[in-house]
Amino acid sequence: MAPTRWPPLLLLLLFLLAAATATATATGNALPPEPKPARWPDVFHARLFTNLTNHSAASTGPPLRVADLYYDWSRRRNLNLIRYQLAAADDPLYDVEWDNGTTFYFDSRSCRTERFPVGVLRPGWLADGGGVVYLGRWRTGGIECDVWDKLGFVVYYQEVATGRPVRWNFLDKTGIQQFVMSFEVGVTLEDDSQWQAPAHCFPAAAADEDEEEEEDEEQDEMIKSSYDHIEGVDDGLDAARLLRMLAGAAAF
Ligand SMILES: *[C@@H]1O[C@H](CO)[C@@H](O)[C@H](O)[C@H]1NC(C)=O
Ligand SMILES: *[C@@H]1O[C@H](CO)[C@@H](O)[C@H](O)[C@H]1NC(C)=O
Ligand SMILES: *[C@@H]1O[C@H](CO)[C@@H](O)[C@H](O)[C@H]1NC(C)=O
Repeated sequence: MAPTRWPPLLLLLLFLLAAATATATATGNALPPEPKPARWPDVFHARLFTNLTNHSAASTGPPLRVADLYYDWSRRRNLNLIRYQLAAADDPLYDVEWDNGTTFYFDSRSCRTERFPVGVLRPGWLADGGGVVYLGRWRTGGIECDVWDKLGFVVYYQEVATGRPVRWNFLDKTGIQQFVMSFEVGVTLEDDSQWQAPAHCFPAAAADEDEEEEEDEEQDEMIKSSYDHIEGVDDGLDAARLLRMLAGAAAF
């Protein structure tokens, strides 16, 4: 039997058809998977520049801050040290968060304790729990980023090349935007005294120790003046509180 001879034109057509099918498969069926947000490292230090972009309406404190974020999942704790623009460098606002849900907000004069049952933000808080929509690749600050929306609550930018967080914008009325200026994996604040809530966070315990009436009055006065000042403490903590609310909404 003589071998079948394919006319050259038919061969060319068959070849083109095969090529077209392969291309369609590559673009149609085999899209590269959408990137997923990286987990946060268990331990890191990040320096954040914060801008309350809706400052005049939503807040009374200064709109620009620098925060040192010490995330320490391995010890189930998280610390924000917040400094307003040109504020005294030696009296930052502390936000110490424990996984048992207790959070201490304090500076040298005042303190406030809040309960967040969700505990410390999980390393997988962004990707886990759903509600994550990939928005695409955008540049911010000259850095090529993958960008996601989480629950219509925050827009999160992550460096394509390294997976490091670059920026996040809260979509609520505060309009808070935080920019990651440095990101050091494995770095924590070893000095335990920095994590320890000061005595004025425990006025009841202090009052118990001293039963004299006069001391109690002084104590009451101190608590009152602390509360007068609390507004200021509160105001610096919007971003930290929003992240906790987000963690709560994502319901791990
Ligand atoms: C802070 O945000 C406001 C409002 O978007 C903007 O006008 C201002 O330039 C920002 N400031 C800095 C230092 O980024
Ligand atoms: C949670 O842990 C912190 C730090 O150990 C502690 O100060 C706080 O009292 C604890 N809160 C509760 C509700 O146990
Ligand atoms: C800014 O804050 C005001 C007052 O809280 C609010 O009514 C307004 O919607 C906010 N603006 C944006 C863009 O969210």
